[in-house]
Amino acid sequence: MSKNQHGLARGLTNYGDMDFSLYLRRANAASMGYGKEILGKPVVGIGDTGSGFNNCHRHMPELIEAVKRGVLMAGGLPIVFPTISLGETFLSPTSMMYRNLMSMDTEEMINAQPMDAAVLIGGCDKTLPAQLMGAANSKIPVISLITGPQLTGHSEGERLGACTDCRRFWAKFRAAEIDEAGIEKIESRLVTTSGTCAVMGTASTMACITETLGMALPGTAAIPAIHADRLRAAEASGAQAAYLAQIDPDKQLIPKKIITPASVENALRILLAVGGSTNAIIHLTAIAGRLGIPIPLQQLNKLSDETPVLIDLKPTGDHYMEDLFKAGGLGVVLRELKPLLNLDCLSVTGETLSERLKSEPAYVNREVVRSFDQPIQKMGGLVSLFGSLAPGGAILKRSAADPTLFESEGKAVVFNSLEDLAKRIDDPDLEVEAHDILVLQNAGPMSDAAMPEAGYLPIPKKLAQSGVKDMIRISDARMSGTAYGTIVLHVTPEAAVGGPLSLVKNGDKIKISVKNRSIDLLVDEAELDNRRQKLVSNVKTKYNRGYKKLYYETVLQADGGCDFDFLRDPSLLKNETKTGGD
Ligand code: FES
Repeated sequence: MSKNQHGLARGLTNYGDMDFSLYLRRANAASMGYGKEILGKPVVGIGDTGSGFNNCHRHMPELIEAVKRGVLMAGGLPIVFPTISLGETFLSPTSMMYRNLMSMDTEEMINAQPMDAAVLIGGCDKTLPAQLMGAANSKIPVISLITGPQLTGHSEGERLGACTDCRRFWAKFRAAEIDEAGIEKIESRLVTTSGTCAVMGTASTMACITETLGMALPGTAAIPAIHADRLRAAEASGAQAAYLAQIDPDKQLIPKKIITPASVENALRILLAVGGSTNAIIHLTAIAGRLGIPIPLQQLNKLSDETPVLIDLKPTGDHYMEDLFKAGGLGVVLRELKPLLNLDCLSVTGETLSERLKSEPAYVNREVVRSFDQPIQKMGGLVSLFGSLAPGGAILKRSAADPTLFESEGKAVVFNSLEDLAKRIDDPDLEVEAHDILVLQNAGPMSDAAMPEAGYLPIPKKLAQSGVKDMIRISDARMSGTAYGTIVLHVTPEAAVGGPLSLVKNGDKIKISVKNRSIDLLVDEAELDNRRQKLVSNVKTKYNRGYKKLYYETVLQADGGCDFDFLRDPSLLKNETKTGGD
């Protein structure tokens, strides 16, 4: 009997007799109808994240069929395996709580099952990051197949795409600009096809980052979910994975040869140039952190100063992902950024970025992707702020914010939880004025809410109805990549672990300066000490079993990518904000 540790013979189940283990495995595999010849082929595992609770992955079955076709064509045996799927709007308290669980599921199933390469299919916000986190330390080649964005819908001649337009219409409804019937009519026209949100939200940003890292085939980030090219990309991903599975094990193109400090820097550049989601900085920090690659927020600021915003997509601009596809795709943006990129980085094709860019067509639609010399904004979409309110940093998506609010000092109007926010934000007696600063506490990773996308605090109804469209809002929460406004997020350390955010009281003065990258609470130290003494810890202790116990005992702050401490490379932990967990 062969001792070859490839294909189905990899990682045998231990019954104390390895020859018997292989015999038993082959007998069970044969029961699924496979013939002897195909059972001897290299195995390509296909990570299936289809779920009735994930509308963005509705087209998973046809993607899987196309990947299988590619694997067979290239001489491999495709075997589909399920993992957890995270449908963004179907999970409570938030999909973010389960990203690390999905990453563990993915990592362990790649390791524990006999496969020589894998294609992981994902798209909805947390799924691609979870899969990349899970794949980072893999000993076999892994290719990401992105599910692709939705096409836009229409209502009475107006083009609509999830979910920037969902928020825009909801804001109109809150401001009484449209009525109940109007908002109901729009509901079924916002999300009209399978695929991920149609704008440069978190899913699209992560798709662009995945392609830039080199973990997906070139040119695949922006192909719409239901386009035939998406199926061709699936077929090509399957074929490439089967090819990689047959390379000499010592020369295999495993993820750690692709996700390197240089490719992570390229991914940060792309995040900034596409005006991408604030969530992506947390996810990229977590992915890189699995391989010991740090992403200090100071590095983000340096890159942001040098990297222009080049694409005109919502929520920063006017277009949608399908327009980026038609305009030439992500390759156009990479070509414009070429002088700033590390061109020696490898992708899953085995080609360098330099080789890739030489071979691509030159077409571009300048309405959607601008040139490096005539950018939409001269500096990158994100900026991190530091100061007495956020010693570990905070994030502002300046490309989607109101520049007139960038140098501001205002009075804090504080909500101490999401429940408090929901109860009082529309109270006609709420003492708030347009130039005040809304502050939300206890919505960070260690809070009850587990860092939901709640940082887009609604404008208090009485101000919305008087025409106020934007205010400074500060929290330890996250924000959907499809949202916009002058919103400071991921304040670190968070309120629930006693960060300075927890000390803010109504009427305190807060000063923000985007120019100086600063965010400060203007309260004297003695008074803050006094408040600190009286602080009651909000750190979760009520879970004594199950996944939530693991979550609250090990989740890191935003500067650690909100990963679990035992999954992050230990070399990074000493420089990051300590979690409040024991
Ligand atoms: Fe899945 Fe937006 S809800 S990507």
